[in-house]
Amino acid sequence: EKVILAYSGGLDTTAIIPWLKETYDYDVVCCCIDVGQEEELDGLEERSKLSGASKLYILDVCDEFCDEYVVPCVQANAIYENKYLLGTSMARPLIAKKLVEIARKEDAVAICHGATGKGNDQVRFELGIKALAPDIKIIAPWRCNETWKMNSRQDEIDYCKAHGIDLPFSADSSYSRDRNLWHISHEGLELEDPSLAPNYDHVLVLGVTPQKAPDEAELVTMTFEKGVPKSINGEEMKVSDIIRKLNKLGGKHGIGIIDIVENRVVGMKSRGVYETPGGTILYEAHQQLEELILDRATYTEKKVMGNKFADIVYEGKWFTPLREAVQAFIESTQQYVTGEVKFYLYKGNIIKAGTTSPYSLYSESLASFTTGDLYDHHDAEGFINLFGLPLKVRAMKMAEVEKN
Ligand code: ARG
Ligand code: SIN
Repeated sequence: EKVILAYSGGLDTTAIIPWLKETYDYDVVCCCIDVGQEEELDGLEERSKLSGASKLYILDVCDEFCDEYVVPCVQANAIYENKYLLGTSMARPLIAKKLVEIARKEDAVAICHGATGKGNDQVRFELGIKALAPDIKIIAPWRCNETWKMNSRQDEIDYCKAHGIDLPFSADSSYSRDRNLWHISHEGLELEDPSLAPNYDHVLVLGVTPQKAPDEAELVTMTFEKGVPKSINGEEMKVSDIIRKLNKLGGKHGIGIIDIVENRVVGMKSRGVYETPGGTILYEAHQQLEELILDRATYTEKKVMGNKFADIVYEGKWFTPLREAVQAFIESTQQYVTGEVKFYLYKGNIIKAGTTSPYSLYSESLASFTTGDLYDHHDAEGFINLFGLPLKVRAMKMAEVEKN
């Protein structure tokens, strides 16, 4: 019988290979889903074989990730707890989907992942797998207290060695990180104490702090079509390349570094630092365009739906009818989100430098102070009378009540 292991090549998932064989006597098929983590994929094949795996799949799903998972979040302006751009959350359902596809192809009976028992990732992987393959058994070694006896990196190294796997892993742990094309997350070490400032020199991977960013602002031009980014500085590119390019620009200018204490699904608060340089720019640019195009009522409702979408994504409920329905709402608001956005990047800031769209609802003559045919100042008087009527009625009643 076969098990599919979500494999990164790191120490945790390497130690899982002999553990799966020993505990369940499974054939282990490793599966590395490349969502842009930029880890050393060279030598992964050899390494997995050396660790006792029978097979290794490496799947590059960067474009699917950007087009099908990132873009809907950008369109929704989905932000968890006012700050987090959901980088890890967005990728998990896609990874789950690919694991299930390979499980089917290999006729495997189980899927195994290395997420801990205290985090959100276990929830996301497993809700994804349950939704797509309810019959497949899920194995989470970190929750198997009876059989998984390793509690530190040194334990894992010793366990590997005892099983004939001698790879150059280091025993000291760094931050707990998760990287993909959209972001990198950092948790652990000094970050676990929210009274301490992050040691940014040590933490940051994708860019610099605003203090260390260049003193010159940099102008960027972007276009969107129906809410999808199409070009940057006049050059048309696929979405994944636009994100790659924006990551470089944003990293250089100290954009998109956040420090948050967030509420995990499993109950506890956790402190993390996230770098989302390109994503932060993309969210902002997209919103800059929407400002011109969406009518007030739609915009108001879209904010509510966007927050809903963020919660759904964070909680790992991607493969649900609710996610589909909310996404359909968001998508329908994007029909006219087409146009050009200009902005400067400067020391952590994104500064608007002009926006145009053939579908702009902005009317200079309406907004300016001259009276025209479309807007008669006298109409405002009647409007305010009716708009303020309930306030006035209540104030009159309160005055009456106080007198008695
Ligand atoms: N707290 C973030 C989230 O829940 C990041 C999780 C990072 N995952 C990891 N395995 N390091 O989305
Ligand atoms: C983990 O437990 O694997 C990382 C943290 C999280 O999933 O939230």
